[in-house]
Amino acid sequence: MPYQASPARYDSMTYRRIGRSGLLLPAISLGLWYNFGGVDPLENARAMLRRAFDLGVTHFDLANNYGPPPGSAETTFGQIFAQDFKPYRDELVISNKAGYLMWPGPYGEWGSRKYLVASIDQSLKRMGLDYVDIFYSHRPDPNTPLEETMGALDYIVRSGRALYVGISTYSAEQTRQAALILRQLGTPCLIHQPRYNMFDRWIEGGLLDALREEGIGCISFSPLDQGILTDKYLREIPDDSRAAKLDNQFHWGDKVTPERVDQVRQLNAIAQARGQSLAQMAIAWVLRHPGMTSALIGASKVGQIEEAVAALDSLDFSEAELAQIDAITA
Ligand SMILES: NC(=O)c1ccc[n+]([C@@H]2O[C@H](COP(=O)([O-])OP(=O)(O)OC[C@H]3O[C@@H](n4cnc5c(N)ncnc54)[C@H](OP(=O)(O)O)[C@@H]3O)[C@@H](O)[C@H]2O)c1
Repeated sequence: MPYQASPARYDSMTYRRIGRSGLLLPAISLGLWYNFGGVDPLENARAMLRRAFDLGVTHFDLANNYGPPPGSAETTFGQIFAQDFKPYRDELVISNKAGYLMWPGPYGEWGSRKYLVASIDQSLKRMGLDYVDIFYSHRPDPNTPLEETMGALDYIVRSGRALYVGISTYSAEQTRQAALILRQLGTPCLIHQPRYNMFDRWIEGGLLDALREEGIGCISFSPLDQGILTDKYLREIPDDSRAAKLDNQFHWGDKVTPERVDQVRQLNAIAQARGQSLAQMAIAWVLRHPGMTSALIGASKVGQIEEAVAALDSLDFSEAELAQIDAITA
C-alpha cells in the first residue's frame, strides 16, 4: 500500500522555535540510533517512521554510524524515504552527524575537514538525499583546530549539502567558541544536541546559559536514559529490551542496577500521581526548560512513539514535584 500521510498530522503536535532561527522543530523528535539498522526488521522501522510523521513528528535524526552495522540506519531510512516520504521532503527536517569512527585509517573519525566532507557525501548517498537540513559535528575533536571543524561545517552549508549546522556534546566553553567562529563565517550555529535526562544533568552547569545567550537551540538526546526512565525495568529486564541485548551494554555507563531501579520506582509513583507514565514524565521534565526545543527520543515499537507524543498533554510541573524528583535523583 503506498503511504499517504494522515491529513490530521499537524492537528496536535506543538512546534518550538530553534533558538533565534527561523526553523521550528516538533517538541518530540525521533532518532534512528537503534532499531533502524541492517539487523532490524525493515517493516517495524517503516511503521515507526510513518506513525511518527502521522503524529506531527517532522524531525528524524541520524548519524553516519547508526546501525548496526554503521551506515545501515541511513540505508534503511533511504529505502523508506524513497518509497514513503519523497513527496513530503519539504515537510521534514532530517539531520545527520559525523564524528565517530566510520572507516579505517586516519581520516575516518573526529573533526577534520577531510573526514566531515567525505562523511556527509557518503551519508547523502546512503540516504538518497540531495541535502540534509541539519548537519552536526558529532563530538569535539581535541586535536583538530576548532576553526577547521567549523570551517568544514560552513563549507558543507555553502556547498548545498546542508541547510543548517549544529554541534553535539560540546562543553559550554567549546560551544561559545564554536558559535563565535561560525558567526564570523556567516553560518550561525543553529542547535546543540546534548544528552540530558533526570539522571544526567550536566547541561544545567553552564551549557543551557550559553545556548540562551548565543541564541542556539537545544535538542536533548536520551531523555528516557535509553529506556531506564520508563516502567519497563521495574520487575525484570525484558528479553526484547535494549538492556537485554548482549552486544549493547548501554552507553555512558547506564546500568539497570537495584539502586537505579529503586529510584525509578519512586519516580514512577510521582508520574502515576500526575496521571501519566514515567516515560511521559521524563519527556515533560526535559521539555520544562523554555530554551529546550525538542526531546529526541528513540523507539523500538510504534506504541512507544504514541506514548511519547501523548506526554505533550501534560507538561507542567509543580514546585513540589520538581523538588521530589530532585531529591530522588540527587
Ligand atoms: N548526539 C549524540 O551523541 C547522540 C547519542 C545518543 C543518541 N542520540 C540521538 O538520540 C536519539 C534517542 O536516543 P535514545 O534511543 O537513547 O533515547 P531514549 O528515548 O532515552 O531511549 C529510547 C529507548 O527507550 C525504550 N523506550 C522508549 N519508549 C519507551 C516506553 N514508553 N516504555 C518503555 N521503554 C521505552 C526503547 O528501548 P527498548 O529497545 O528497550 O524498547 C527505546 O529505543 C537517538 O536515536 C539518536 O538520534 C544522539
